[in-house]
Amino acid sequence: MSLVVVANREPLRREGDGWVPAVGGLATALLPVLERRGGAWVAWGEKDAGSLPLLHYPPAAPRFAVHRLFLPPREVAGSYHGMANRTLWPLAHYLLDRVEIRRDFLTAYRSTNRRFAEAVLSLWDDPHIPVWVQDYHLMLVPALLRAARPQGRIGFFWHIPWPPPEVWQVLPWLEELLAGVLGADLVGLHTAEYVDNFLATCRLLPGAVVRGQRVLWQGRAVRVEAHPIGIDTARFRRWAAEPRIRERAARLRRAAGGRFVLVGVDRLDYTKGIPERLAAWERLLEQHPQWRGQATLYQIAVPSRTRLESYRQLKRRVDEQVGRINGAFMQDGWLPVRYLYRAFPPQELVAFYLAADVALVTPLRDGMNLVAQEYAWVTENGVLVLSNLAGAAAVLPEALRVNPYDVDGLAETLHGILASLAEGRGRRTWEARRAALKERVAALDVHGWAARFLASLEQAPAV
Ligand code: UDP
Ligand code: G6P
Repeated sequence: MSLVVVANREPLRREGDGWVPAVGGLATALLPVLERRGGAWVAWGEKDAGSLPLLHYPPAAPRFAVHRLFLPPREVAGSYHGMANRTLWPLAHYLLDRVEIRRDFLTAYRSTNRRFAEAVLSLWDDPHIPVWVQDYHLMLVPALLRAARPQGRIGFFWHIPWPPPEVWQVLPWLEELLAGVLGADLVGLHTAEYVDNFLATCRLLPGAVVRGQRVLWQGRAVRVEAHPIGIDTARFRRWAAEPRIRERAARLRRAAGGRFVLVGVDRLDYTKGIPERLAAWERLLEQHPQWRGQATLYQIAVPSRTRLESYRQLKRRVDEQVGRINGAFMQDGWLPVRYLYRAFPPQELVAFYLAADVALVTPLRDGMNLVAQEYAWVTENGVLVLSNLAGAAAVLPEALRVNPYDVDGLAETLHGILASLAEGRGRRTWEARRAALKERVAALDVHGWAARFLASLEQAPAV
């Protein structure tokens, strides 16, 4: 065993009789890393996906093992559906009016984090093997591991935005959670902005001293670094060359019926800006009727966290919007929005990316957003429209930036793009942007990301 990854989400989901990659940036990024490096992945074993405690993957020639942790349903309710998704998720995405503060969430979270730490300790037999803890579900795990193995190599990666201290001050348990994270030797976040915010937040912790990019805490120095995550570029390149996928892309274009195809690919999450995007699409069709019958938006929305009322509410809102737009503008053989409420395996997404002239990646906040990178990497003729509030905007400066809250602005930007594509204007500029973006994505490749983080973790802790 060369690496232990600890994440709430398991890397695979059940589809039919087999397993396919789980949806979500963390899982899609780390799955190829574990397939290449081997190791162990400790995760919550969602009962819906069966009751196997240990899963070897890929089945034909196993490279790594998933250790599936079965948690009591009440604890999942408080820890995953509660603290993780009703407190920390909206808080980290700056959506303070959605944050719920409840003591029973904290109690469940502590207990779940303890179970994860115990599961790791039961298989972590060599302290030289790095343990890499992932994301906001497991903030207490690094300190729990540190207490048991003071010499262990422990990394922590935060996959979502880290807002400034003023936002974190809303949380009554900030000190406990920060102390949990600071059990790690190295804390990784996607961008320099999140690193600055993290360090500034540490200043709120009594006893912690911030020195440059280090936090001196309980006699150790914890390094804090920006490591922007990437995609598995080789795999996406292979998929984009597959004849079956290319034919599928051509079929999607034909089915759309008009001249242009736009695509949005998101978990159905209120951070993704889907209602705002649909509103912009509606505005565009109202105000620029020449695009009626000419441009189609494929919106893939993957069911996500469906037990939570806020996500159900969002689904009702989006269903209603799609119905209204299609009802108002549909013509023979043309629908303005083709809405797909389901998950696709990543290679199927490539067909949508290849088919689309424009990708709309317009989250209200996003840690990184890998869909932006996947599209930029795969597209041959397309334009990436990217929210200035996604971490991806920091690493993909050649994308066309938009403010996702500005519905009118987004509608006008889209109109401008479609007009320029229709008239063949600015082709050179689009090509130059595309080429620059491909270089950026190549440099961010996920195997390089993991290698850089783990190499940094290997370095002796600097005191
Ligand atoms: N994804 C997928 N199938 C789908 C929709 C999305 O496999 O039907 C993948 C997508 O390829 C991407 C990830 O899910 O790698 C979503 O990551 P992103 O960073 O864009 O957002 P997150 O879901 O992590 O918030
Ligand atoms: C984001 C988070 C991940 C999470 C994913 C999907 O990418 O950073 O930790 O796994 O969303 O959400 P879910 O709640 O289904 O795991």
